[in-house]
Amino acid sequence: MLTVSSLTGRDLLRIADLSSAEAEAVLDLAVELREQPKQPLLAGATLGLYFAKHSTRTRVSFSAGMAQLGGAAIALAPEELQLSRGESLPDTARALSGYLDALAVRTHAHAELAAWAEWASIPVINALTAEEHPCQALADALTIRDRLGSLDGVRVAWVGDGTNVLVSLAALGELLGYEVVAACPPGYEAPGVQSVRDPRDVVDGADVVVTDTWISMGDEHERVKRLIDLEPYRVDDALLALASPDAFVMHCLPAHPGEEITADVLYGKRSAIWDEAENRLHVQKALLVLLLRS
Ligand code: CP
Ligand code: NVA
Repeated sequence: MLTVSSLTGRDLLRIADLSSAEAEAVLDLAVELREQPKQPLLAGATLGLYFAKHSTRTRVSFSAGMAQLGGAAIALAPEELQLSRGESLPDTARALSGYLDALAVRTHAHAELAAWAEWASIPVINALTAEEHPCQALADALTIRDRLGSLDGVRVAWVGDGTNVLVSLAALGELLGYEVVAACPPGYEAPGVQSVRDPRDVVDGADVVVTDTWISMGDEHERVKRLIDLEPYRVDDALLALASPDAFVMHCLPAHPGEEITADVLYGKRSAIWDEAENRLHVQKALLVLLLRS
């Protein structure tokens, strides 16, 4: 068990906030906590969950994770806070810092997350913004390492929309030694991520194939256009046949069978998606321990 952490007291807003050694420490501790899930490492600690967008996995895995570590989590629905009646974000963040040990924030604009981090004196964790989803990327890297034994030189093919999840997954690859190449339609590329047009070009020989919803939270008004533009980017058995024979598929969920992925692939024997979802719990517990213990 790691007792001295360079992450203590820090924020995790983007993958770039981590060093390679810190990212590896999160994965290593996640494996230890997966083996011994109920250890009172955060007894008495409280995590706030400020979620301005829907969530199933992130909210529940953070809540269950805190309970397993002997701490507690409090859901902070924006509409129930005085914030929604005009109290400022800085005043809310200052007051919450007096009660909580850490705050996980899911919101639209990354700048709003940065404001929470600026005004709160406790660690702030990005639980998803339109720009990044670092907790998801940590779970994804653990899932790949679990299956392949190492991340070094692993070829990850991303197919479809260049979402927040892709940005974090590719940034983490630069820290941990796997390579992400994306196939996205014009206009759907992710900033800073190498991309091509044809999904077959990235899946050919890939070790891992990853996709995400075609309609992320906040993109609902573009639904019709997105379904048309992304139609050639569905992950199906024919596309997967081009990948390495042992290749597996990941998806952060929620999935939309028949849109970005077929039901056969989602529920098939090459799907690592359900292990990936569980790994959210283990990496976030590790992250909380490293951020909160001195
Ligand atoms: N993958 C993910 O973040 O799921 P939720 O939106 O359900 O939290
Ligand atoms: N790209 C998706 C991920 C959901 C977990 C979104 O932002 O809605």
